[in-house]
Amino acid sequence: MINVGIITVSDRSSAGKREDLSGPEIEKWVSKMGYETKQISIVPDEIENISNTIIEMSENKIDLILTTGGTGCAPRDVTPEATKKVIEKEVPGFGEVMRMESLKITPHAMLSRATSGIRKNSLIINLPGSPKAVKENLEFIEKGIPHAVKLIMNKVIDCALEE
Ligand code: MTE
Repeated sequence: MINVGIITVSDRSSAGKREDLSGPEIEKWVSKMGYETKQISIVPDEIENISNTIIEMSENKIDLILTTGGTGCAPRDVTPEATKKVIEKEVPGFGEVMRMESLKITPHAMLSRATSGIRKNSLIINLPGSPKAVKENLEFIEKGIPHAVKLIMNKVIDCALEE
């Protein structure tokens, strides 16, 4: 069973000025996949808040940490920078697939700077901010997640023998 941490990155949601709809969208996906949501956080668009929350979840042995929001080009969008600050290895494939597939839906997908990586035993993946984009992008990457988590846990003996 993969356990999941969800970090909604939004100044307005963290201040209680806007309902967070993207975190719940991730929770729905977690249930659909048969995973378990272990921790949920809503933080402002500040590098320290985001990176400290990623570290905290990773120290809590969360397998998969999904962030939503702050991956675009606006002045306050710093989620990729906060993620890069704490990951030990980058896993560029998730961002690449999200941009490639999302471009078929909207040209704005090329504005996403989402990154992914590994800290200790946790896989961290940035998702865009809107609930629609969250749903679409999770569908694009969901096939890659179980094998990535197994690899990170060093539970794969031979990739050729895995599905
Ligand atoms: N990807 C999909 N599949 N669907 C979308 O609607 N929105 C895009 C992009 N990726 C979108 C998407 C937009 S408008 C932006 S600005 C970037 O993701 C970054 O979003 P963020 O700043 O909310 O993280």
